Amino acid sequence: MKTDFETLKDLHQYYAVHNTCKLKTVATQPVYEIEPPSSGILFIGEAPGRNEDQQGRPFVGAAGKFLDELLQTIDLTRDQVYVTNVVKYRPPNNRDPNEEEKKDCKVWLNSELLFIKPKVIVTLGRHALEKFIPNAKISTDHGQNFTHPTGIPVFAMYHPAAALYNPNLKDTMKEDFKKLKEFLKTIETKTKKDKKKKEAIDAILDM
Ligand code: URA
Repeated sequence: MKTDFETLKDLHQYYAVHNTCKLKTVATQPVYEIEPPSSGILFIGEAPGRNEDQQGRPFVGAAGKFLDELLQTIDLTRDQVYVTNVVKYRPPNNRDPNEEEKKDCKVWLNSELLFIKPKVIVTLGRHALEKFIPNAKISTDHGQNFTHPTGIPVFAMYHPAAALYNPNLKDTMKEDFKKLKEFLKTIETKTKKDKKKKEAIDAILDM
């Protein structure tokens, strides 16, 4: 896997050429963001829809608008976070991406993760959740946090599009975002404590 990229834009331009995903031939273009997140928070959806396919940017349609609303409820804006998808091309008629398509886009996503080194990953829907926590089930595990073997915390969230089809899920997602906010605070506290511990160790080593 090639990992020595200067920028996210370079990374995406490389993988847009060097990938074997068959959706490439039917989609308008690959869909991605090029700015790393100032917050260290990375959201992962499933695959682009029609609007995303046309604009080349993730979550710009109705599901994206709802995601923006949810972010606002926890005092985050879209440009503070990074949003990506398991599959970078739109599947025809918005069908679910299949196993082969997910596999063919895997190095691209893994390379993004290595570049960004997120503080926390928020999975949107089951495809993203399954990638990180294979035995988790979105219906029972949404609103909960897990630790990936890499040590990166993973927070399971329903997909915002699911809430557009099933309005009952809107409130559930709002509640889950509140839980996410609390979880982010605990990560922040832990990071500060770890930093202090490291500073104390460094100070002792300097004695
Ligand atoms: N749904 C997704 O999973 N990703 C997008 O980018 C848009 C809608």
